[in-house]
Parts: sequence; structure tokens; C-alpha cells
Amino acid sequence: MSAQPIGVFDSGTGGLSVLRALRDALPSEDFLYFDDSGFGPYGERDEAFVVQRTRAITQVLRGHGIKALVIACNTATAAAVEAVRALHADLPVVGVEPALKPAAASSRTGRIGVIATRGTLASARFKALQAAVGGNAQIVLQPCDGLAAAIDASAQGGGDAPVQALCARYVAKMGAFGSEPGEIDTLVLGCTHYVLVQPVIQALVGPAVQLVATGEAVARQTVRRLGPDGLARRTGPGRLGLLTSGEPQRLDAAVRHWLPHLQALPARGTIA
Ligand code: DGL
Repeated sequence: MSAQPIGVFDSGTGGLSVLRALRDALPSEDFLYFDDSGFGPYGERDEAFVVQRTRAITQVLRGHGIKALVIACNTATAAAVEAVRALHADLPVVGVEPALKPAAASSRTGRIGVIATRGTLASARFKALQAAVGGNAQIVLQPCDGLAAAIDASAQGGGDAPVQALCARYVAKMGAFGSEPGEIDTLVLGCTHYVLVQPVIQALVGPAVQLVATGEAVARQTVRRLGPDGLARRTGPGRLGLLTSGEPQRLDAAVRHWLPHLQALPARGTIA
């Protein structure tokens, strides 16, 4: 079992930000990344659609013998992690959630922002997360329609002007950022796509604002869930396989763009 790959999936290329953290933590593991760009983005789709896609993709990745699944998508985690765990009780399944609690704990102004997809922010799972933080922080929520799609497109040579414009528009809607009382001093990146453009967002909110992503925490949780016996017993770099429901050349280009130091096998098209 320890030599099997770890499956990682997202609606598109946002999960590559999580894959980067996973590779840093587990350099000798094999990974199999599934990009659902044939059907994504998920953020503005209804929950039943996202559950159906997540179940279908899990099935395909299991067919490739994965030993664990990382749902590298906040929207899919919010909609479907429970359903997947119920159906695959024998498979370690790690999800990604907006890091509200750590953000509330580290904020000094007590005002935190969350940018995420519309689907994530509307989910029952996110509402429960928000309730758990309770009155410990004022939380400013901002759905970012179209941003994940713009980030996917920006890796295809189109430039990042649309990403810049959308980020600027959404950040402006949230009010003042900074370290003074009443300002947002901590911003949760609640979509794995947004982590890929962290420098763009940081430049907009200013250096005093802390951006909170979840890739490292997800990697730590994956190591814990696999346990010492679940890890590959070898040294040297593991392999990275790529599967997509979209166009393989687009995924190859995205991996070269976002993870230029990573060696990956050529992407293969697949049906899920
Ligand atoms: N990367 C995804 C997330 O973390 C989804 C973006 C989308 O499909 O709209 O939520």
C-alpha cells in the first residue's frame, strides 16, 4: 500500500497550490493530480453537481489505486467530503477548509476577511465553521465570482490583467485593510486557486495584512492520516501523474506555469 500514489483533485488548477505543499512535505511520494476543468469551475454551480463530480472523480482515482485522497478544493470539500467519506470508509480522505479559526486567533484587530467561492460561503459546512468562531471575530465575507476561471486562464499565456482587475474589485468591496482598529488585518484565502495569486492579493491589501492559506496544514494532516506505515519507503523524488477531464495540453501548461520546478509526466485526458 505504501508505494501507491496519493490522489489530489480540484475543479481546475487551484489544487496545484495544495500539491506544492504536499510535495514539499512528502517529496518521495507519488501523486496523481486530477484537474476537472472539463466540468469546472464549481464555485457558481449547485451543490448536487459538485457532489456528483466529486464522487465520480474519487471513483476514477480509486481505479488508479490511490492510497489516500486530498480534495484540494474548498468548494468540493464543503459540498461532498461527508458523502465521499461515507462511501469510501477505507480511504483516508483529507479536505480543505477556509482557515477561519487560525485567522480569528491571530488577528489583532478582531476583523478578518474571507474570500472564497459563492458555493463555499453558502454551504452548511462553512456556516458551521463560522458559528464555531462565534463572536471572537468580525468576519467580512466576499464571494469572488469568476476569479477561479480567470486564474485558470492566466496560466495559458493570456496575462494576468483580468486576475488583477477582479482581485482589485473584490478587495475594494471589503472595506479598509490594515492594522488599525476597525481594519481587516487577516485575510483567509478560502479557495485554492487564490493561493496561486497570493502576491497579487498581498500587493492590494498591503504588507500589514496577513494572508492565511491552508496548503501546509493539509499536507501535515495528510502525513498524519497516512501514518508511518502508509508512507512510501524509498528515497529520491516521487512521480507526479496528471489526469484531466479537460485538455491535457492546458494542464501541462498550467503545471509549467505554477510549479515550474516540478517534473511531471505528460497529462492524460480521462473521462469521469
Ligand atoms: N479551487 C476551488 C476551491 O478551492 C474551486 C474554484 C471553483 O471551481 O470555482 O474552492
